Amino acid sequence: MIYLDNAATSFPKPEPVYQALDRFARTSLANPGRAGHRMAVAAERMLDEARHRLNRLFEGEAPERWILTLNCTDGLNLAIKGLVRPGDHVITTDLEHNSVSRPLRALEKAGVIRLTRVASSEGYVRAADIAAALTDATTLVAMTHASNVLGTVQPIEEVASAVRAAGALFLVDAAQSAGVVPISLKELPIDLIAFPGHKALYGPTGTGALYAGPRTDGKLRPWREGGTGGDSSSEVQPVLLPYYLEGGTPNVLGVAGLVAGLTWVEEKGPDGLRAHEVELLQEVVDWVERAEGWGVAGRWDPARHVGALSLRVPEGLTPQDIGSVLDVSFDIAVRPGLHCAPYIHRALGTFPDGTLRLSPGPFSTRQDVQHLIGALGEITASIL
Ligand SMILES: Cc1ncc(COP(=O)(O)O)c(C=O)c1O
Repeated sequence: MIYLDNAATSFPKPEPVYQALDRFARTSLANPGRAGHRMAVAAERMLDEARHRLNRLFEGEAPERWILTLNCTDGLNLAIKGLVRPGDHVITTDLEHNSVSRPLRALEKAGVIRLTRVASSEGYVRAADIAAALTDATTLVAMTHASNVLGTVQPIEEVASAVRAAGALFLVDAAQSAGVVPISLKELPIDLIAFPGHKALYGPTGTGALYAGPRTDGKLRPWREGGTGGDSSSEVQPVLLPYYLEGGTPNVLGVAGLVAGLTWVEEKGPDGLRAHEVELLQEVVDWVERAEGWGVAGRWDPARHVGALSLRVPEGLTPQDIGSVLDVSFDIAVRPGLHCAPYIHRALGTFPDGTLRLSPGPFSTRQDVQHLIGALGEITASIL
């Protein structure tokens, strides 16, 4: 199969990831514990290794500030529900995935927070619009680094400065950027960043991380409490990071795969990985410009894009029809629909059918893209 659905989860994984999963599952898959037997300690060490790797790649303040989560949604919910208090004002954007917009909307509907949703234009949010929405009551700004629908990269550097100046906390959803856009937490005033391990960090599903910076100390409460593999005598969750926010047996096998994925990303470098995917998408954009009935959703700017592109489809066809034909007749996997991000589709006028999203990965080739373009041409010819 030609797999162009890497924005959902990356496939295939780099070979060392499969090897690490197999090796770890056969030798060390014990329940991690700081005070346990040798296998338990080895499993705990794998979690530590992941925190050190994450801290190095993203230049965080300390490894223990990395909370290992089960996916990006888990980290985002931990951040949002752990931080907001009744009466808070929160700012978000219309580009968000449901993992940001649903918890925030639920809190707004319950009367807990006041929510401002800043509109994007052609797929880009203006930092000035976020700055203009900040008030004395704003405690949190939660936004995506790159749109999972359009692939457009947002100006989080400027937003981060404005949010810090206003004294609010800044939460970045880096689901589509972690691993393909360099992010330095040393240079950027970002308080919290969440991402999955299973997309461009090449870990398996069931992995992710949340970074909780120093300004969240004393503010971020756990929403999941339980065993921490250490001090069992305490009646309540021990306040020590990362255990404070990590109740329950972690996906230590997945984390072993994630560590191999992080090593691979460090070797290749995020810039080169992004450039490869954008180059492949440029071929699709060039084709769309010549093709009757097709269009690119959002503004295509290769310098501010990750490897996801949404296409408007010709009249008479739906993205779902095309996705099915690509799957069944051409053996090509793409993602039609709303991509868990209904607000941006409403803004683009592509609600409710959505768009056809293409997302190549590091192992996708020009030949794959040529096959796709040929298939889209054949499907279009059949209705015109
Ligand atoms: C921008 C964005 N945020 C959050 C998520 C949720 O990630 P997960 O499925 O790992 O919870 C996704 C997944 O596609 C995403 O693209």
